[in-house]
Amino acid sequence: MQPKIEFRKVDFAYQTEVSVLKHVSFQVQPGQTVALVGANGSGKSTIAKLLTGLLTPNQGSILVDQTTLTPQNMAELRQRIGLVFQNPDDQIVGATVAENTAFGLENRNVSRPEMQRRVQMALEQVEMWEYRDREPGLLSGGQKQRVALASALAITPEILILDEATSMLDPQAKQELNQIIQRLQQQVGLTIILITHDLEMLALAERVIALDRQQVAFTGTAAELFHQEDLLMRMQLELPFSLQVQRDLAAQQVPLPANDLNEKELIAWLTKLL
Ligand SMILES: Nc1ncnc2c1ncn2[C@@H]1O[C@H](COP(=O)(O)OP(=O)(O)OP(=O)(O)O)[C@@H](O)[C@H]1O
Ligand SMILES: [Mg+2]
Repeated sequence: MQPKIEFRKVDFAYQTEVSVLKHVSFQVQPGQTVALVGANGSGKSTIAKLLTGLLTPNQGSILVDQTTLTPQNMAELRQRIGLVFQNPDDQIVGATVAENTAFGLENRNVSRPEMQRRVQMALEQVEMWEYRDREPGLLSGGQKQRVALASALAITPEILILDEATSMLDPQAKQELNQIIQRLQQQVGLTIILITHDLEMLALAERVIALDRQQVAFTGTAAELFHQEDLLMRMQLELPFSLQVQRDLAAQQVPLPANDLNEKELIAWLTKLL
């Protein structure tokens, strides 16, 4: 299968002397959900900005559907990418939730009825349709993020990038957004990039790409990543609590029935043991 997204030896620096990305190469397959992880300042948001043409590489190339991004085709390619950022308040426009959701469709040659159809579809996907006439500024943080996601979905993107979209939300709102993302994963062909420090969100990804020291330091599954302890530490990522407990038990020479039990399995084993 041809990759949906490809970075080929991308170099990037904001200031000439400080390199942010050095020879960064990776591929994302169509329809896949990939998590992009790395310490603060490792260049995750920079990658999102390169992919959406807000920045251009100093060296190397970025391809979407085998087409190299250029200043000429950027505007067209960007229409196929939906973005949600960290801060809910940065993404509020318009007097109502519906207007906010329609915002990205203005100037896109979308007819009025089609616009209304897409706004309804997008707001239903994030369970915010009943809030369509509300003032977006008065919503909760989690609701604002769902509206921001609806705005990204209204453009019917092929690629959806969530850049720390849940990091300012409370656990309940986080979980709601994660459930919505899980439903979006069923949507055929939608490629999703989750930029995150959140372990629960990491669990949604089929593949994880980790950045460290200006480069891709790891690609693989989250379960594989949890065995790279030095890298996890450098990336300020903690192990899921159930794995941490198992490492501690193993360190005490407690024999475990299998490697990397999930939380349910661990509880089942512990309760039988006690
Ligand atoms: N506009 C800018 N001008 C100069 N340097 C910048 C700019 N934006 C980011 N940087 C620097 O580039 C590096 C990568 O930043 P980036 O925002 O991509 O990191 P990140 O991985 O998204 O971090 P975080 O987890 O904190 O969001 C950092 O060292 C940062 O200080
Ligand atoms: Mg960032």
